[in-house]
Formats: sequence, C-alpha cells, structure tokens
Amino acid sequence: MTKLSVNINRIALLRNSRNIGIPSVTAAAKTVIAAGAHGITVHPRPDERHIKASDVYELAKMLTVEFNIEGNPFQPPFMDLVCDVKPAQCTLVPDAPDVLTSDSGWDIPENRDRLLPIIQKLKDNGIRVSLFMDADPALMPLAKEVGADRVELYTEPYATAFREGKVASVFQQYVLAAKAAQDVGLGVNAGHDLNLQNLAKFCSIPDILEVSIGHALIAEALDMGLSNTVQAYLKILSDL
Ligand code: PXP
Repeated sequence: MTKLSVNINRIALLRNSRNIGIPSVTAAAKTVIAAGAHGITVHPRPDERHIKASDVYELAKMLTVEFNIEGNPFQPPFMDLVCDVKPAQCTLVPDAPDVLTSDSGWDIPENRDRLLPIIQKLKDNGIRVSLFMDADPALMPLAKEVGADRVELYTEPYATAFREGKVASVFQQYVLAAKAAQDVGLGVNAGHDLNLQNLAKFCSIPDILEVSIGHALIAEALDMGLSNTVQAYLKILSDL
C-alpha cells in the first residue's frame, strides 16, 4: 500500500497568524498519527513563515511515524537542521526563498556538483534522500547518478490536468517517469496538489511508495474533521 505522509505546514501557517499557539502543530501531528497516517512531512523555509525550526525539534521528539523534512539544501540553516534531527527521509526541493510553494523539480545537470556532496552528507547521517523531480523519464538516471534513494514526482501538472478533465497524456508521462525511476533502482514518491478526487488515479501507477499531501487535506479537514479526512485518504490507498 502507498504510504500517506501528511504535510502539516498549513497548520503552522494558521498558528503563525496569532501569537497564542493555536492550532498546535504537535497536537495536529498526534491526531494525524492516531488516525493512522504513516508519516509526517514538514517543509521549513528560511523565513519560517509556516514551520519553524523549533517545530521541527518538537516534532522529532514526539513522532512515532516516519518524519520527512523537505526543503532547499542550499538555504541555511536547512542542512544543519536536518543533520541534527536525522529524520527518516529528507526530500530536497529547489524552491527559491520567496516562492509561494514548490513549483518545479531539480535541474540536475545544473546542480550536479553541489548536490553530490549534500546527498552524501545526508546519507552519511543515515537519512534516506529523495529528490523532487518533474515527470521526465530522461531525468531519472541522473537522479540515481547523484546518489538519491528516491524521487518525489511533482504532481501539480497532473492535478491541473485532472481538474481540467484532460489528464490522459499527462498521466502517461507520470507512468513513464515512475517506470524510468524504478528501472534504475529509485523508489518513487509523489506530491503536490493531490486530493481526495485525484489520488486514486495517480496511485494506480505501480509501486508509488509514498504520497505527501498537505494543502487539500487540511482544507478538506475544515469540513470533515482532521481524523476523518486522514482516514478517507487511507481508505483510497488501501482500496487500490
Ligand atoms: N512535496 C513538496 C516538495 C512540497 O513542497 C509540497 C508543498 O509543501 C508538497 C509535496 C505537498 O503539496 P500539497 O500541500 O499541495 O499537498
């Protein structure tokens, strides 16, 4: 079964709009875990506009499921934070500091020489490394070559095509990218704009190991409640 890692950045974003500590990021993580999620994802950014370094340390102390920390390794203090906390997985994302949300995968040829030592350092710390990638089959051998264990396919183009009702050719691109990654020995994760409507089709791609879902899940939880929403996602994944 594909694992569900719940991205709780949106809880921190809401919390940061007042100085009274609600909603609590750790309480939300406990609810998500109690509902059966397999993992918790956070994406600390240098401006701490949602998840703060202090959240990362608090979560690391209490988590009983896989911790996935995402972010740009070239923006301090990301690497120090990750190597200190040693999560199960680190997903490297090439997002600019001022970008609203991650909006593309790695250009590996452009970043190869900087990525090699970073990936090695994370692996030396016992951390599994995933690279956020566009769904381009030709890029997957390059991700393997720089030492990644997994790729996370950037699913925004899939989600947009799904919403517009013209998903067939875009979906095929993801099928081919996942296969190209698996053929060179990479595990395949996926994330961005996945939701209760588009998840089942995406995860019909064989052997998607993990999906990381935040924005839609937290929005849906306003109607359905956080536990019920996590369980609705888990039901989709277990029914596949
Ligand atoms: N993967 C990466 C690398 C991300 O930056 C994000 C958003 O923080 C996600 C997955 C989750 O996307 P969404 O919040 O749209 O579910």
